Order: sequence, then C-alpha cells, then structure tokens
Amino acid sequence: MKKLALLCSGGDSPGMNAAIRAIVRTALYHGIEVMGINKGYEGLIDGDLWSMKTTDVSNIIQRGGTILKSARSMRFKEKKYRDVAAMQLQKNNIDALVLIGGDGTFRGAQAFFEEYQFPSMGLPGTIDKDLAGTDFTIGFDTAVNTAMEAIDKIRDTADSHSLIFVVEVMGRDAGYIALNSGIACGAEDILIPELKTSIPKLINRITDEKRRKKNTHIIVVAEGDDFGGGLEVKNLLEKEFPDIGARLCILGHIQRGGSPTYADRVLASRLGYNAVMALMEGRRQEMVGIINGEIVYTPYSEVVKQKAIIAEDIIAITEVLTH
Ligand code: F6P
Repeated sequence: MKKLALLCSGGDSPGMNAAIRAIVRTALYHGIEVMGINKGYEGLIDGDLWSMKTTDVSNIIQRGGTILKSARSMRFKEKKYRDVAAMQLQKNNIDALVLIGGDGTFRGAQAFFEEYQFPSMGLPGTIDKDLAGTDFTIGFDTAVNTAMEAIDKIRDTADSHSLIFVVEVMGRDAGYIALNSGIACGAEDILIPELKTSIPKLINRITDEKRRKKNTHIIVVAEGDDFGGGLEVKNLLEKEFPDIGARLCILGHIQRGGSPTYADRVLASRLGYNAVMALMEGRRQEMVGIINGEIVYTPYSEVVKQKAIIAEDIIAITEVLTH
C-alpha cells in the first residue's frame, strides 16, 4: 500500500480531528502517502483531494469538528455517483480508503465496496453511539459530558423556581446520550426511542411528586423518542400541570461541537492507528472498534445490520434511581 485516502462523513463528532491526526501520522510513519478528501463522499465524487503532511495535523487533537469537513451525501446513494467516486480513486492512484463516520457512512461504504471491492477500513465517528461492533464511538463521551454540564445548570434554575423542565438531547434513532446524561444528572425521567413512552406513567409520577411537595422535575428526552420529541412532551405537561409550569430546552448542535474529552482523544488515536495497521496487514471492509478495552474488527455488513444493544442494568437504573 503506497497511498491511502481519508474522509469524514455524516454528522461531525468531537475527536474526528484526533482520529485524522492518528491516521495521517501512522501512515506517514510507515512511508504511506495520505490524501485528505474534503466533505466526505461529496468530495470523493468531486475529486476534492489534497496531500496531507504531518504538519497539517499539528495542533488539531484538541479541536472539535473536522479539518476535512463532513457532509451527508445524497449523491453517493446513487450508483452512477459511486461509479464516479471509484473513477476518482483510480485516477488519483489511491490504494485504500479510511472512513470516519456513523451508520449512514457504513451503509454507503457497504454498497460501494460490494460493487468495487476497494480496500477500506472504517472508524466509528458519531455522537450517537448507535453502531454495533464497538463499546464507544468517537465523540459520544464529549457529547454526553456537554449534555451533562448543561442539564446540571438547568437543574439550578429549575430548582430555584420549582419547574418541570424538558431537556431535549440529540439522538434521532438512539437514546444513548439521553440515557447517560440523564443518569449522570439524576433526571427524574428519561424518554428514548428504544422504549415506549408511557405518558400516564409520566403524569402519575409528577402528580405523586407534587403530593410530596417535590415540584422540580427534569425529563431528558431524546429527539427521536416515540412521543414526538421535547416540544410535544412540554406542551402536554404544560396542559396537565398549569400550576407548576413546564419549560423546554433543546440542547441541539452544541452537543456536536467542542474540545474532545481525554477519552475521545485516546479512543480516536487508538482507532486511527489500528485502522492503518489493519490495512497494512491486509484487513478489508471492516470497522475498527473497541470492546472491553480491546481492539476488534467488524465487517461493514454486520455494523449496518445490527443495532448496538442497551445494557439491561442501564434501563433498570432509569426506573429505580429516578424515583
Ligand atoms: O450525527 C448524529 C446526529 O447528531 C443525531 O444525533 C442528530 O439526530 C442528527 O445528527 C442531526 O443532524 P443534522 O444536523 O444533519 O440535522
């Protein structure tokens, strides 16, 4: 392998830069040239590639976002554009591709590599942590910490004013940020897409707390919860409890930005290093992840087929510790 190309795709996540740095430096260390592709699959289709040197990745390990930019490519879903992407790889003499992204990235990779069998390895880069084949994804730890700090602040004011607060966190299809930030902040309720939301149960609980003169109630809602997200929940509670009053805070994209935590920087460095080493050893079409602290490799087909499983005790904790 003489030359590899590297891209970030889908929603960005804190730690992507640390991964880019690790990939570039590991490859250069082993005498492999690296081309950075701007804006994910979009840049690949357009041939937007540049040669990366070790100094290009200096001073980025602590920065959120991605110096390569990212995009959700609609064009890459079409075969005719995947053909163009393959042509660009050939034209630029690329021997292998390294991808950093979430489930959409791996779905794209799976389709592309079924057609072209082009050597590649992937890194899980998403704040959602919703990929099979890894215990952690790059950016998740930072996003949960960002949400946790915000919810702690919200609790101060909710408590001063005895309010019901609905805090919506990211996660269109996954409740990991909601579950973990909710547990970390002692939220009174946590609503996630993976579990059916019981509104009567929610109302009963708040009514019961009112009787016990506990008026502050924080509900962490994943944006994709089955009741329709934070606004729907807040509107309903405002109607049910007009005397307490409900407020809504949508944390939104602040969860995707910011300086990565130590955990995300080290995870990204390990995954980036191992992705390049794996390509050198002849591994192909796998996502490099971490399970029980060990590096593991999962075929793209498995990554897109399976869902990450929420540990049972985490679900139980949300029920038991929130009372
Ligand atoms: O990247 C994952 C994610 O942050 C999800 O949690 C969220 O639903 C989605 O991206 C939002 O993406 P966009 O900014 O493209 O709407």
